[in-house]
Amino acid sequence: MNLQIISDFHEEHHGHDIAPYINKDADIVILAGDISTGTTGVSLALDSAELHPSITHVVVFGNHELYDLDYAEYLALVNMWNDLAPNLHFLENRSISLENGIEIFGGIGWSNLNTPNHKELHERVQDFSAIDYYGKPVTIEDFRHFNNEYWSNAQKWFKTSTGKTKILVSHFPQSTALKHKQYEKNDLDYYFCADRDLEIKEAGEHGVSLMVSGHTHDSFSTSIQGVRQESRQVGYPFESNDALDAVGGLNSMIVI
Ligand SMILES: [Fe+2]
Ligand SMILES: [Fe+2]
Repeated sequence: MNLQIISDFHEEHHGHDIAPYINKDADIVILAGDISTGTTGVSLALDSAELHPSITHVVVFGNHELYDLDYAEYLALVNMWNDLAPNLHFLENRSISLENGIEIFGGIGWSNLNTPNHKELHERVQDFSAIDYYGKPVTIEDFRHFNNEYWSNAQKWFKTSTGKTKILVSHFPQSTALKHKQYEKNDLDYYFCADRDLEIKEAGEHGVSLMVSGHTHDSFSTSIQGVRQESRQVGYPFESNDALDAVGGLNSMIVI
């Protein structure tokens, strides 16, 4: 089975549809968040699913989709969107079983913000003013709670799943080792990436062979705690695509 991964497409900056970027030879495409803001990402994914009816589309939201949509509202809507097309699946802390024993668990994932320097994060990261949860800006505690929710549901899944191929998807990478390669290590790494190496190890021990993420505007093909980590990120128009090209470009596919 051929898997294509796309994240951080950021349609809100260039106005392109996602459908032309789907590889026609893909069996599954994972859209790993920041496709656009608000429900535009949903429309783009639906258009693509309708144009490519034989390709399974699996979507998780990123933080930027929530810049135009309260997270509580998203949680209330997401299951309804799963009725839009038979080959379109939105995952938020839940899994889906596909053909050939492939199971995918997905969600935004968030970060556990594992640094004591929360004040700096709160001041520097736009999410804390741009994302609402029940009508109020998300807090440091909300972030940590959402990341705990992601992992407690993921753990329930990978401990009970009988799938042959188990894939874990999150918008936020779940190891700080997946920080953007170009930048010096700093406290923002703990916003961009959760510090969940122990849980990644546990996932690997329970048969998770691949994790897919986005968010950093870097791309990678590597391994953490023995679990393969893949990311294909477009980023903003002014950003370099060298890292994306180095892992084969947006059109590349992974055989699973
Ligand atoms: Fe992004
Ligand atoms: Fe993001």
